[in-house]
Amino acid sequence: GAEPDAAGDLAGRAVVVSAGGTREPIDPVRFIGNRSSGRQGVALAEAARARGAEVTLVAANLDEAVTAPARAAGVHVEAVETTAELRDAVRRAAAGADVVVMAAAVADFRPSVTPDAKIKKVPGAGPAPIALVENPDVLAELAADRLRPGQVVVGFAAETGDADGSVLEHGRDKARRKGADLLAVNAVGAGRGFGVATNEVTMLDARGEVVAEAAGTKREVADAIWGVVTKNLPSI
Ligand code: CTP
Ligand code: CA
Repeated sequence: GAEPDAAGDLAGRAVVVSAGGTREPIDPVRFIGNRSSGRQGVALAEAARARGAEVTLVAANLDEAVTAPARAAGVHVEAVETTAELRDAVRRAAAGADVVVMAAAVADFRPSVTPDAKIKKVPGAGPAPIALVENPDVLAELAADRLRPGQVVVGFAAETGDADGSVLEHGRDKARRKGADLLAVNAVGAGRGFGVATNEVTMLDARGEVVAEAAGTKREVADAIWGVVTKNLPSI
């Protein structure tokens, strides 16, 4: 990037970024998933690498074409599918990391059982219900466990706003609930956030206070986020 102060400010640091969207199998051919493109997470990994960090990108269902530039730049890419796989990969890498950023869209629920064979339709009988169970909250666990002392834990919140509150109000509640050091709140829906090249985030601290705002390309937003994160890192 063009930021002169950014060069090398993550040298000597190890960071983990999760990106993409997890998929939970319904049967061998179907899954529950979401529309995350993974591009903000990949931009975070690339930006951290450019700033000198050793970077692990835990990539949930991302196309090779999306991760190839990061890989070429020296980012270690670990491909995962389900939330359970993502959780294992993130926690393994987080044990040695100064920063963990949960940019992945994690499925909140998964089918409680996954049959080995394809579920067949019985004509005229209507759909069989799919029983779901809640997934572990990877971010909240990381914030509670602090797998390495002094580790900075960062989450994302994709919000639309609804009758219960605005994007920012939902973000504040989430920041307080999760226990992460920083939460990047991102307005989604109607051409914003998911699947588009630009992004707008408001950075909140663990108390839900606004600490920064950033808008621009996903790379520019990524660099703004790292700028805030570096201020929260203990010195080496
Ligand atoms: N997250 C996670 N594990 C989950 C669900 C979410 O680690 N099982 C993380 C996401 O990676 C993101 C943050 O938590 O960094 C917020 O995700 P979000 O879906 O916005 O929050 P939820 O707590 O799931 O709340 P809701 O979907 O109801 O808004
Ligand atoms: Ca969720």
